[in-house]
Amino acid sequence: MISNEKTFLDNETWRYFWHPVCTVKELEESDTGRGQLLRVKLLSTDIVVARLENGVVALNNRCPHRSAQLHLGWNKGNCIQCPYHGWMWGEGGKCMGIPAAPDGPIPPNAKATAYDCQEKYGLVWVRLDGSADTEIPGHIVYDDPTFKCVHGPSYDWKTHSARRVENYTDLAHFPFVHPETLGRDGHVTFLTPDIAFRKEGRMRFRYDPPKDARQAMDARGGMSPLAFTDYTINLPFGVTLDLTLQNGNRTVMWMWATPLDNIHCRSFWFACRNSDHDGPDQPHMDMQAVILEEDVDIVESQDPEQIPHPRDEIAVGPDKVSLTYRRLLYELCKAKADGPEAIKTWLNNERDNI
Ligand code: FES
Ligand code: CO
Repeated sequence: MISNEKTFLDNETWRYFWHPVCTVKELEESDTGRGQLLRVKLLSTDIVVARLENGVVALNNRCPHRSAQLHLGWNKGNCIQCPYHGWMWGEGGKCMGIPAAPDGPIPPNAKATAYDCQEKYGLVWVRLDGSADTEIPGHIVYDDPTFKCVHGPSYDWKTHSARRVENYTDLAHFPFVHPETLGRDGHVTFLTPDIAFRKEGRMRFRYDPPKDARQAMDARGGMSPLAFTDYTINLPFGVTLDLTLQNGNRTVMWMWATPLDNIHCRSFWFACRNSDHDGPDQPHMDMQAVILEEDVDIVESQDPEQIPHPRDEIAVGPDKVSLTYRRLLYELCKAKADGPEAIKTWLNNERDNI
C-alpha cells in the first residue's frame, strides 16, 4: 500500500478556487424552525451557509466567542445569531451585537471568519481564499432558453476529487465497468483522444464512440447515453460533457467534484437538454444513477484515495487524458508554491497544444 502522505498534489491549492458546497434548493430546505442555515464542508473546513438580506454568506461554523457551532443558531435576516449566547454575525463576519453587553463596546477582534460566497447555476459556491482572483467557470448552455437544465442529487464518494474527475473522463473503463450502459461487453476501444487546448484552466478533448457499440446500445431501446462527446475539464474539479445524439439533439452534462477533505468528495451535477422539455426528467436521472452505481465501488477501491507520485502507478498511451490532467494539476500546485499571483498567471497563460 502507498501512503497518502506521498501524494504529489498540494491540497492547499484548491483553497484558491470556487467550489459548489450545496444546491440552492438544499439551502432553502434547511429551515428547521430557526431560518435557513446549512452546515457544509469544504477542504476540511466546517462552514455555515445562510441567505441574508443581501445574498448568500458563508462563515466559518465556529463562533469566535466560545466556539459553539453557528449552524445550530438562528437566521435573523441580517445576521446569523449564535445558539449559545446570542452574538450576532453579519455579512463579512461583522459582529452586529452582543446581547450580554448591549451598550458595547464590541471588541475590535470580534469578527467571524467569512469566505467568498455566491450563487450560480442553482448552486452555492464558496472560495476559501480569494487572493488568486479565480472565477466560477462559465457554462456553455445554462442561460440558453432552448435548453432545460435539471439538477440531480449530489453524492459523496470516498475518493479524492481528482480521482473522481479522472473516473468521469475515463473512456477505457466503459466496457468493464459499464458493459450494459456505456460500453459493450468484450469490446475494448483503444482511444488516444486529441487534447485540444488549455485556456483559463480548461482542457478539452472529443470522443466519437465506435459505431458498433452505439448500434448495440440503440438496439437496447433508445436511452443510449453513448454519443459523440465534447469533453471539457475545468480545473481543478469540473467536467462538462457536450453530447450530440445521432438525431442532432444535445445533452450537456455538468459535474463538479467538491473536495470535502483530501479523501472524500461530493459531486454536484445537472443535465441540460435541448429537446423534450415537456417530457419526464426522471428517465435521464435514473440512467445517471445506474452509471454511478456501477462506478462507485471500483473508484472507492482505489488505494490510495489520492493521486500518488507518478512512479507509483503505470500508464499507457490511452491514459493521455488522465496523464494530461495530472500534469496540469501538478503545474497548478507548482504555481501555487510561488503564490496566488503565480496561479493567476498560470491560468491566463493560453496554450493551444498541451
Ligand atoms: Fe457564540 Fe457565545 S459561543 S455567542
Ligand atoms: Co464510469
